[in-house]
Amino acid sequence: MRKLAAGNWKMNGMAAALSEARGVSIAHPNPSVDVLLCPPATLLTRAADALANSAIALGAQDCHAAGNGAHTGDLAASMLAEAGASAVIVGHSERRADHGEGDELIRAKGEAAIAAGMVAIVCIGETLAEREAGSTLHVVRSQLAGSLPLGATPQNTVIAYEPVWAIGTGKVATPEQIAEVHADLRAALTDMMDGADAVRLLYGGSVKAANAAEIFAIPHVDGALVGGASLKAEDFSPIVSALEEA
Ligand code: 13P
Repeated sequence: MRKLAAGNWKMNGMAAALSEARGVSIAHPNPSVDVLLCPPATLLTRAADALANSAIALGAQDCHAAGNGAHTGDLAASMLAEAGASAVIVGHSERRADHGEGDELIRAKGEAAIAAGMVAIVCIGETLAEREAGSTLHVVRSQLAGSLPLGATPQNTVIAYEPVWAIGTGKVATPEQIAEVHADLRAALTDMMDGADAVRLLYGGSVKAANAAEIFAIPHVDGALVGGASLKAEDFSPIVSALEEA
């Protein structure tokens, strides 16, 4: 499978940040892995212009589950696709926490993304309390079962395992912790869909240039979903290179 280095800018990035996206495209004119940047929706069209004829793809950070309609402030998957996104993150833990999103809604959002011709990047991950209670595998399996889009294929769906306690904290899960969850997710997916071996399983949570190679050497880690270290080309580019070399 082709691995994936994805950057999630979250609620960061004004127009000046487009130079960072261009910097990534210049550093990686012909990458051997897929490279995706997910800027805020306000930058998508300009990012699409900035990255025209580059190898860097664009994604959005969320979409509404409906195709259109009376949903003030929301964005339909088809709108994001028209703006230049080929993928959408759904179910990020920050949306689960900030907006109370649950598995059923996240599944519907993923299905909307796929219906619009995009890749759904479905995020799952346990909180610190859940890990300390010994329920990590139960939690991530249940999130996976509840939020995997109907009609998921290796082409249209990516799973991102992001332990909530490792996001933005500088605390990375240990290789043993990542290996255990990713192997379990692969097994769970195998029971749920055809072609599970080819579904990309990303790790996310304080991935940096300094730890990327170690993380990418773990079995069933097929790439990363990177937050803070995706905001600057000089930070993200070495992560892309580490994935190419893994
Ligand atoms: P950090 O890389 O900043 O920890 O964020 C990870 C993340 O949430 C990516 O979606």
